[in-house]
Amino acid sequence: MGTATTLSMAPFRGITTRAFRNAFTTHIGGCDLLYAPFISGTGTKRVHPDKLIDLLPRNEEAPVVPQVLSNSAEEIILLGNALYDHGYTILNWNLGCPFSRIARKKKGSGILPYPELLDRLLDKIFSETRIGISIKTRLGYHSPEEIWKIWPVLNRYPLQEVILHPRTGKQLYKGQADPEAFARWRDESRHPLVYNGDIANVTVFRNFCNLFPGQTQWMPGRGILTDPFLALSIKNALPGEETRRERLINFHQALQEYVASIPGDARQLGWMKAIWHYLAGSFANSTEVSRRIKRSRNPEAYQAAVDFAFQQPFSGEEEKAQHFRSLTR
Ligand SMILES: Cc1cc2nc3c(=O)[nH]c(=O)nc-3n(C[C@H](O)[C@H](O)[C@H](O)COP(=O)(O)O)c2cc1C
Repeated sequence: MGTATTLSMAPFRGITTRAFRNAFTTHIGGCDLLYAPFISGTGTKRVHPDKLIDLLPRNEEAPVVPQVLSNSAEEIILLGNALYDHGYTILNWNLGCPFSRIARKKKGSGILPYPELLDRLLDKIFSETRIGISIKTRLGYHSPEEIWKIWPVLNRYPLQEVILHPRTGKQLYKGQADPEAFARWRDESRHPLVYNGDIANVTVFRNFCNLFPGQTQWMPGRGILTDPFLALSIKNALPGEETRRERLINFHQALQEYVASIPGDARQLGWMKAIWHYLAGSFANSTEVSRRIKRSRNPEAYQAAVDFAFQQPFSGEEEKAQHFRSLTR
């Protein structure tokens, strides 16, 4: 693997928040960039400090790209400029969120059927924003044909990069991502194109490398949540098994220390369970690990389930792929 490979951790609303990103950077590592979950509803008057709580103060150790979900150029400009003043240089615009209650409002992938609207918004954004803009998108909302009208619009503006998840919004996370579509639109892109979608383990990553020769920018998502060492494996820097176990325990410990500051056992357990929904796949016995974590109703039961998990052998490539598939069923 050449040194040019750039790995960005995909954003997950409600999971890859600041505490997760910091704990990951301190105890695991391997990602060159970490994308923050989207911010929305910041308005056009002033950005309320609460909206920036996940991003400030900026952590220089963990290079973060903030993300916005909006269909208002004014809102994006105001937020972008506020972030720029705090030292951020890029704001990612979410044109990929597939959920119908968002898409219905022409936000996320719901903008993709409206190329003229996208053009107007980009024109306005680029006339007034100081921060660099990148985009995370899908092939379309209803149909992968929509990208035919979207791509020429994106190619007209000086975007920092485009991250393409080759599914439609309607597909949510079901079925398979379409690597051929990625390869095709990569050839048509004026911008650096980042691949995102279904990088379930190192074997899958290597297959994608063969499909897109020369591709250097990648964004693994659920694969990293399943196996936090995925980025290090890709970079051929995987530590030995005992070191990994120790680092994973420390990573979990850091998450728990953070979670202790959230009021209420139920909310604390909720976040940790959301993390384990994916992380259970790190262990050979992932079904049993998942079952025990899900069943735990109080901190003692949770701790017992976690102790059980950390005693299991690590999963192999096929087991990780299987866990990944189970996430979308
Ligand atoms: C629970 C959940 C939350 C997500 N939150 C965001 C988000 O805030 N912003 C975003 O661009 N994508 C979000 N995504 C999409 C992921 O970043 C990623 O694009 C998707 O999981 C596909 O990549 P993967 O197959 O490698 O996981 C989310 C996905 C899930 C399942």
